[in-house]
Amino acid sequence: AENLPLRNKKVLITAGPTYEAIDPVRFIGNHSSGKMGFELAAAAHAAGAEVTLISGPTHLEKPAEGIKLVRVQSAVEMFEAATASFPEVDVAIASAAVSDYRPKISATQKIKKSAETMELQLVKNPDILASLGESKQHQILIGFALETENEEENALGKLRRKNLDFIVLNSLNDAGAGFKAETNKVKLLFKDEKVKAFSLKSKKEVAQDILNEIILLINE
Ligand code: PMT
Repeated sequence: AENLPLRNKKVLITAGPTYEAIDPVRFIGNHSSGKMGFELAAAAHAAGAEVTLISGPTHLEKPAEGIKLVRVQSAVEMFEAATASFPEVDVAIASAAVSDYRPKISATQKIKKSAETMELQLVKNPDILASLGESKQHQILIGFALETENEEENALGKLRRKNLDFIVLNSLNDAGAGFKAETNKVKLLFKDEKVKAFSLKSKKEVAQDILNEIILLINE
């Protein structure tokens, strides 16, 4: 245990989807299972880090003993939990699929069926990762980008806007990548536009590749 690469390091990870309540029984969500984030937490824990895992709703088994799991539902709740622990950590990795918008009003009672059409007004959610990027001091900050078009260009835009050290691009155009699957296929994009492309692997192995890159940055 003496020479684990992340010994004495604190790592924050966001994972899973967010659920944005429409009323007490309905929500706006997405297909994230939380797997990618849970594997990152397991890898960081195995490397000796003190891990806080902030997760939206998932059906995954509890992470290993020693990983601090904070369960949240909405983007606002995830924002509050993440911004509260960020000042204390050395590394933060945002793998959650956060809803960009939430219903302006979350009805207190179940909405009844009436007219032929109905409109749902949405308001913007806080951008958790951008906010961490703004308050970043010594931390290493990693984001994900899930893209369907102009992938590298969009990912580089997010890397810069959110003040990241690198961004993990996964594409919905690659079979076996992205949501739900046991596998993922990623490219790591850096501030100097250097790109490291990896083959299709299990999310466990992808998590280890990402962690190895973080360890390189820490030891720089
Ligand atoms: O959970 P799995 O089923 O294993 O799937 C994994 C995954 C596909 C969800 C994961 O690998 C992934 O790509 N996560 C990010 C998905 C995403 O919503 O990306 P984005 O391009 O919308 O967001 C860019 C970055 O900003 C992400 O790091 C995201 O966590 C962060 N973000 C976005 C919006 C917001 N309001 N707050 C944020 O922090």
